[in-house]
Amino acid sequence: MASPPARIFVLTGAGISAESGLGTFRDRGGIWERFDPMRLATPEAFAADPDTVLDFYNWRRRNALAAEPNPAHRALARAQARLADGGGRLFLCTQNVDDLHERGGAEAVTHMHGALLRARCTGCGHGFACRGDILRADPCPGCARTGTLRPDIVWFGEMPMHLEAIDARLREADLFVAVGTSGSVLSAAGYVTQARSLGIRTCELNLEPSDNASLFDEARYGPASEIVPAFLADLGLA
Ligand code: OAD
Repeated sequence: MASPPARIFVLTGAGISAESGLGTFRDRGGIWERFDPMRLATPEAFAADPDTVLDFYNWRRRNALAAEPNPAHRALARAQARLADGGGRLFLCTQNVDDLHERGGAEAVTHMHGALLRARCTGCGHGFACRGDILRADPCPGCARTGTLRPDIVWFGEMPMHLEAIDARLREADLFVAVGTSGSVLSAAGYVTQARSLGIRTCELNLEPSDNASLFDEARYGPASEIVPAFLADLGLA
C-alpha cells in the first residue's frame, strides 16, 4: 500500500456527531429549522434576551454531555495517533462545539466555533471550563460580576476562532478532507476553494453531496460512522 499523506487537514461539521444523537443544523428537522438562529445565536439576541439564549446553550450542553463519540470520531483519533507516530500530522479542525472528538481520543482539536464546555465573561474577558448550566446570577470567577457570562461559542456576526493557525495548517497540508458539513458557513466553507488553489487534493465525506460537492476532487457518501473509518483504512491509517 502507498504511504499515507504526511499532513492531512480534516474539517468536521455537525454530520460527524449526528449518529451520536446530536442534531445537525440544516438537515430536515435540524436545529435551525426548529429554532431561529437570529433569536438564539447572535450578540444582539443575547443582549435582548440573555435568559433565552443561555437556556438554549444549557440545553445543548446537557445533550452534548449525554452523547457518546461514534466510530467516526474514534477512527479520526486513531488516524491522528498513527500519523503522529510516523512523523506526520492530522490537523483536526471542527466547527462542532461538542467535545466528542476529544472523548473519542483525539489529542489536539481546534474548535473554530468555540466550545459548549467553556464560558467567557463579556465584562473582563475571562474564559474558563464549564460543564454545568450558565445562569445570569452566576458571578464571573475572574471579576465577580454577575450577568456577564456567556457560552464561549461563536455567534452569527462574530469571527471564527484560531483563523491564523488554521490557515497555516491548511497551507502545509497534502490532503484536505471535509466530513459531515454542508459547506454553507464561512470561513470553513471557503477552505475547499483555498485548498484547491494551493494544489492540495480534496475529499468530501458526507451523507449526501454538500453545497460545495462539485469543488472536491473525490467524494464518498454515506453515514460518517461507516465512510470515515473506511476512508482512513484505505489511507493505511486504520
Ligand atoms: P449542517 O447542519 O449545515 O450540515 C451537516 C451536514 O452533515 C449535511 O451536509 C448533512 O448531509 C451531513 N450529515 C448528516 N448526517 C450525517 C451522517 N450521519 N454522516 C455524515 N454526514 C451527515 O452543519 P455544519 O456544516 O456543521 O455554527 O454547520 C456549520 C455551522 O453552522 C455550525 O458550526 C453552526 C451552524 O450555524 C455556529 O453555530 C456558529
